[in-house]
Amino acid sequence: MELFEAIHTRRSIRKYQDREVPFDLIKKILAAAMMAPSTGDARTWHFILVTDPDKKARIREVHPYVKMVTKAPLGILVCGDLSREKFPGFWPQDCSAAMQNLLLAAHASGLGAVWTGIHPIEDRITRFKEIFDLPDHIHPLGLAVIGWPAQERTAEERYTEECIHHNRWQDRASTGI
Ligand SMILES: Cc1cc2nc3c(=O)[nH]c(=O)nc-3n(C[C@H](O)[C@H](O)[C@H](O)COP(=O)(O)O)c2cc1C
Repeated sequence: MELFEAIHTRRSIRKYQDREVPFDLIKKILAAAMMAPSTGDARTWHFILVTDPDKKARIREVHPYVKMVTKAPLGILVCGDLSREKFPGFWPQDCSAAMQNLLLAAHASGLGAVWTGIHPIEDRITRFKEIFDLPDHIHPLGLAVIGWPAQERTAEERYTEECIHHNRWQDRASTGI
């Protein structure tokens, strides 16, 4: 799938077929995630593959908006490694860039995925750290829930002229673009 097509047709998918995702494809998606830009090229990310039904059930208990995980073949927990940071405080941006690459690569491969948020909600961070035995310097950013889609979602146009400004903050009426 061509890049602009992937960007414009990706939607969050929350219903999945009962079918595994082959490990070779998971690796391909993770390789795409790891091509993301990062501050000082620090590559602060780690990825935890979640396939264990018990872990999925525990996730569902601690996160109110992730019930789809128990029906998905795969979750990928994207974590930031604070010990690798070259510019402190930027790990969520590194890991978000990786997450977005991951979602686009999944979509371009025919998979469906949804980003479920963890950081910066303290309670969720604590609970995910417990579930996955994360050491102090590893912080969970979000969980991508992934599978072969069992729902169709249409692309929607989101281009919004009002969000575009020219050289300084200004009302749309005066941008001249
Ligand atoms: C940081 C972040 C956290 C999100 N958390 C959740 C979540 O917990 N559960 C969920 O179902 N969707 C979650 N989403 C998905 C958004 O609801 C979704 O991206 C948005 O509604 C736009 O729809 P689209 O992804 O189909 O374009 C999250 C998205 C982002 C970027």
